[in-house]
Amino acid sequence: MHSFGYRANALLTFSLTILALMAAMASFSDNFNSPSPAAHVQVLNVNRFQNRPNGDDEIGMTLSISADLQSLFTWNTKQVFVFLAAEYGTPKNAMNQVSLWDGIIQLKEDAKFSTKVKNKYRFIDQGSNLRGRDINLTLHWHIMPKTGKMFADKLVVTGFQLPHSYR
Ligand SMILES: *[C@@H]1O[C@H](CO)[C@@H](O)[C@H](O)[C@H]1NC(C)=O
Repeated sequence: MHSFGYRANALLTFSLTILALMAAMASFSDNFNSPSPAAHVQVLNVNRFQNRPNGDDEIGMTLSISADLQSLFTWNTKQVFVFLAAEYGTPKNAMNQVSLWDGIIQLKEDAKFSTKVKNKYRFIDQGSNLRGRDINLTLHWHIMPKTGKMFADKLVVTGFQLPHSYR
């Protein structure tokens, strides 16, 4: 004789199996989304460029950032973390990465944006390597899904040469 408890348990197991299956399908279907994000970044102005008392270079800039990341959103997307990094090589490190701006996008409608900002985080080099330095401005994004694994990718948006002298 099957008790109520047994039935409830069987139903629960069945529900959980279906839930797990749906989660797996949602996560799997993400593999078929081939996003085509677009971004445009421009350095509008170098506001200051100094060598700090400790010898490290610091630069302040105003950036224009526009992007259309709507194609990153699927029905399994919880949110997208996006950041703009300055990337450059120095004699000491082949790759330096400094985050200048970031944001969290929770709605697809907000994934198409255009903004004019001063660097949100300080752009400081570990040394005095920034004069005349060629940098890449790279947009990185991390897609956090409702279920399944996280995806990350990036786009080198533009190159920029820093000023040759402090100001
Ligand atoms: C800058 O971007 C170019 C083109 O993608 C790449 O070849 C180069 O290695 C990048 N430089 C740095 C320092 O990341």
